[in-house]
Amino acid sequence: MEKKLRSQGWFGKTGKDGFIYRAWMKNQGIPDYEFRDKPVIGICNTWSELTPCNAHFRELAESVKRGISEAGGFPVEFPVMSLGETLIKPTAMIYRNLVSMDVEESIRANPLDGVVLLCGCDKTTPALVMGACSVNIPTIVVSGGSMLTGKYQGHDIGTSDIWRFNDAVRTGNMSQEELTVAEACMARSRGHCAVMGTASTMACMVESLGLSLPGNAAIPAADSRRKVMAQLSGIRIVEMVKENLKPSDILSRKAFENAIIINAALGGSTNFIIHLLAIAGRIEIPLELNDFDTLSANIPFIVNLQPSGRYFMEDFYYAGGLPAVMKELEHHLNNSCLTVNGKTIQENYHSAKCYNREIIASVDQPFNSLAGVAILKGNLCENGAVIKPSAASPHLLNHSGKAVVFEDIDDYKSRIDLADLEVDETSILVLKNVGPIGYPGMPEVGNMALPKKILTKGIHDMIRISDGRMSGTGFGTVILHASPEAALGGNFAMVQNGDVIHLDVANRILNLEISEHELQKRKENWRSSHKNYGRGYISLYQQQVEQAHLGADMSFLKGNSGSEVTRDSH
Ligand code: FES
Repeated sequence: MEKKLRSQGWFGKTGKDGFIYRAWMKNQGIPDYEFRDKPVIGICNTWSELTPCNAHFRELAESVKRGISEAGGFPVEFPVMSLGETLIKPTAMIYRNLVSMDVEESIRANPLDGVVLLCGCDKTTPALVMGACSVNIPTIVVSGGSMLTGKYQGHDIGTSDIWRFNDAVRTGNMSQEELTVAEACMARSRGHCAVMGTASTMACMVESLGLSLPGNAAIPAADSRRKVMAQLSGIRIVEMVKENLKPSDILSRKAFENAIIINAALGGSTNFIIHLLAIAGRIEIPLELNDFDTLSANIPFIVNLQPSGRYFMEDFYYAGGLPAVMKELEHHLNNSCLTVNGKTIQENYHSAKCYNREIIASVDQPFNSLAGVAILKGNLCENGAVIKPSAASPHLLNHSGKAVVFEDIDDYKSRIDLADLEVDETSILVLKNVGPIGYPGMPEVGNMALPKKILTKGIHDMIRISDGRMSGTGFGTVILHASPEAALGGNFAMVQNGDVIHLDVANRILNLEISEHELQKRKENWRSSHKNYGRGYISLYQQQVEQAHLGADMSFLKGNSGSEVTRDSH
C-alpha cells in the first residue's frame, strides 16, 4: 500500500479544518485538484537582493517548478532568511544556525512532502542542509552555480585576487581607480564566487554526499544548463517522495567519508570541516575532526583551481566537473553510496571523462601530493586546529618563530602597520578572540593581511594563527579554528608577544614553547576580555554555540526532531 502523503494531513481533511487549509491557498488561483493526493514540494528559496550570489534564484525556482509540475507534483516556493557573505555584519557565520532553524521549522510546520533546497552563497548551503536533515523528509539540493571567470586587463581574475589587490593597494602598486574597475571585471555575471572557495566547496560537498543530481556542482550560474539541472531536480524530487527516499537513507557515514576524500582532492575550503561536522551532527552520524586528517592523508591534490591552483569553476565545468574527479578517485571512494537519483555514486560517475588535464589531473600525476587539510594538535590547541597545506608556503610548514600577538581584531587593525611593530618574516602572527563566542560568530579574518613593512620587502606569506576562520578564497600558511578559542581561556588565550611557537605540519604539531609552570601561572591571572551580548539571538548564540572542532552548531540543535507535528493549528 502506498504511503499516505504527509501533506494530506492538511489538504486531505474535510470540514472546517480542510476548508481553512485549502481556502487561503486558493486565493492564489490554485484549482481544487492540486490539493488531491499530489506530492506537495516546497522550494526553499534563499533569493535576496542582499545576497547577490543568490539573486537569480527566483528564475531558477521557476525551472524547478516546471519540473515538479511536469512530474505530477504541486510546487510551493517559500523564503527563508538569506545570508549574503559580503554584506552581513559581523559575519554570515553567526546566522548559519539561525537559518538552519528557520529552514527546519518552515519545513516541519508546513504541508510539505518533499523539499528542494536552493543554495548558493557560502552559508546558505550548510544552513539549508542542516535544517532539512533535522526534519528528514525527501530533499534534493540545487546549487545556484558560480559566476563566469572575471576578466581584468587581459587576465583571468576571481575572488582570491581580492587579497592580492589589497596588498597591491597598500604597497602603492595599484590605485583606488584601478581597484574600482576591477570590481566590475570580477563580478561580471550572476552566481557565486568563481574559485574553489566555500560556495563552490559546498556545492561539491552536496554532490559528493549524494544530495544533488550528478553534475550539479560545477555548472556556471549563467549557463543555460543550470536551469536544466533545476528542472530535472524538480522532476526527481517528486519521484523521491513516491520512493520515500530521505536524507537519512543517503547520508551514511560512508557518504561523509566520500565527501572528505573528494574535498581533499579538490583543495576545498577549510570551512568545509565546520559545516560537514554540523551536518553530521544533525543526521546523527559520528564524525570527528581527526577523520578529516586520516581520510585525506593519502589523497593527492588533483584539481587546479584557485585559491590552491590556477583556474576557475567555469574551467572546471568544461573539464568534466565533479564526476570526472570522482572517477579519478574511484579506488578511494565508497562506491556503493546511494544518491538522490536512486543510483550509486559509482553508477553516476562511471561514464564521466576528463577533458583537460591542466585542470583535473590523474591521481598518478597530481598537482601536489599534499592535499586536504591537516589537523594540528599540541599545547596551543588542545582540541585541534586546521591548516590547508596545499594553500600554504612549503618553506613554512616546519618552522619556529616568535609570536606577535593581537588580543582582538581591533588591536590588530590599530597596530598591524605601525612602523615600530616588532615583526619580521620569521615571526608568527597570532590573532585572538575571533572564535565563535569571542568575536562572536567566528568571522573569516584568519588570513589577516601581513604588516606593510613585510609586504614592501616583497614577502607575501607568514604563519598566521587564530581561533577564527578563513575565506575559502583565501590562501597562505594560515592556521585556523584553534580550539578551545581564546574567549574560553584555553592555552591559546595564554600566548604572549615573544613566545616561541613551533609548527611541524608533517608531524601535525602546533606547540607553544613555554614551561607548564609558566602556562599555569598565566592561566591563574587570565581574565576574559570578550564582550558578552545581553539579549536577542546573539546572546543565545554565545550561550549555546559549540566550539569549532565540533562544527560550531548550537548544542540544543544537534540531532533531529523528525517531520511529525502532533498539534493542529485550530
Ligand atoms: Fe557569495 Fe563568495 S560571496 S559565494
